[in-house]
Amino acid sequence: MDRSWSPSRWRNLPAEQQPDWPDQYALDQALKTLSLLPPLVFAGEARKLQAALAQVAAGEAFLLQAGDCAESFHEFTADSIRDKLKIILQMAVVLTYGAGVPVVKLGRIAGQFAKPRSSPTEVVDGHALPSFRGHIVNDDAPTEAARTPDPGRMLTAYHQSASTLNLLRAFTKGGFADLSQVHTWNQQFVARSAGGQHYEALASEIERALQFMRACGIDLRGEASLQQVEFWTSHEALILGYEEALTRRDSLTGDWYDTSAHLVWVGERTRRLDGAHVDFLSGLSNPVAVKIGPAATGDDVVRLCDALDPGCVPGRLTLITRLGAGKVHSRMPRLLRAVRDSGHPVVWTCDPMHGNTFTGAGGRKTRHFDRVLTEIREFFAVCREEGVWPGGVHIELTGDDVTECLGGIEEVLEDDLALRYTTTCDPRLNGSQSLDLAFQLADLLRRR
Ligand code: TRP
Ligand code: MN
Repeated sequence: MDRSWSPSRWRNLPAEQQPDWPDQYALDQALKTLSLLPPLVFAGEARKLQAALAQVAAGEAFLLQAGDCAESFHEFTADSIRDKLKIILQMAVVLTYGAGVPVVKLGRIAGQFAKPRSSPTEVVDGHALPSFRGHIVNDDAPTEAARTPDPGRMLTAYHQSASTLNLLRAFTKGGFADLSQVHTWNQQFVARSAGGQHYEALASEIERALQFMRACGIDLRGEASLQQVEFWTSHEALILGYEEALTRRDSLTGDWYDTSAHLVWVGERTRRLDGAHVDFLSGLSNPVAVKIGPAATGDDVVRLCDALDPGCVPGRLTLITRLGAGKVHSRMPRLLRAVRDSGHPVVWTCDPMHGNTFTGAGGRKTRHFDRVLTEIREFFAVCREEGVWPGGVHIELTGDDVTECLGGIEEVLEDDLALRYTTTCDPRLNGSQSLDLAFQLADLLRRR
């Protein structure tokens, strides 16, 4: 542990993607208030997640990290949280049962509010406006007032994260995630799809297996492992003032934990080695992750490993590749080799979403399901060739019946994009596309 590190040391370094908060006094007040509020997660939980990720690093478990591109202050209801959890549980059960591998369930949720932008301004109807940076900073409405960064939003984000996390804890520990409920996670519009039917069959098999165990005289009612799941939270640590205010010293170990989530990551745009974001993550004791794009060299990645995982601790560091379909074979082997030679026991996971975005009909950002799947297949193939465990996937999805990504078995066509396109940022897989993806993943995992 670097003794000169502190949660505010990042302030001396170049910090990209930080909002221009117009009112310094309001900012200071908001951060002061945040720093006095209770932590959202407990350090001991972050250590448990790190232990689970160490299992992934060892090739004994699979990481499913999934959720919204950006959570919204406007679409914040019990139903939307429940439906997102449903689809993640469905995917997890397909992977656990279908591939026989334990699944680490990590939501992009309860804190995923900030978005990095390629330009500080954007032109809407001929007017230049500050870019939308996520609801933790400003509103997406195309007016000057809405786009002005408001530090009070960090408090709203904190409270929305707290209630989201509370409901997730209630659902995952209170009976909703009980394996005897497998059928109830299949939402109607998903159940009608081919993937949904496939899922129904799998759920029935699980019920029969449980019935069989009971008939054999094994009392399953007291088995917490069948009734509960460990569900972890994560988001991109982008707005460093917010993250700093929630970073606390653990009273048990004396170590620093960012208590805004169990795991935080830095993005492809903010991962420069001498920058504020990497410095901030380097001093945390949470498990952390970094996004790796197609321009990264083996050297770049090893230096990031040295900065973020100097102790070579299994589970500490997850590398999330987002290379784009068609680029994995040419880019990834040298990264895998460089990291292997460096001795860092990282988790390798594939984000097949962000390298495959393009502008479709009507100027809407979209992704094609086939490209997403292709990147995953390439990731698995390269990992196999290099003898590295394909540790997991990082997916943007929603439980809703949206039409944001093209393709899938229940095919979404270009003309359908206009129908139900509700994302505040990037296009997400809908419920049936997510389930299709889980079945394909289970196949890939089984084939190993
Ligand atoms: N607790 C186990 C696990 O998390 C089994 C389990 C219970 C489960 N409910 C689940 C698995 C829902 C997936 C989905 O793996
Ligand atoms: Mn995104």
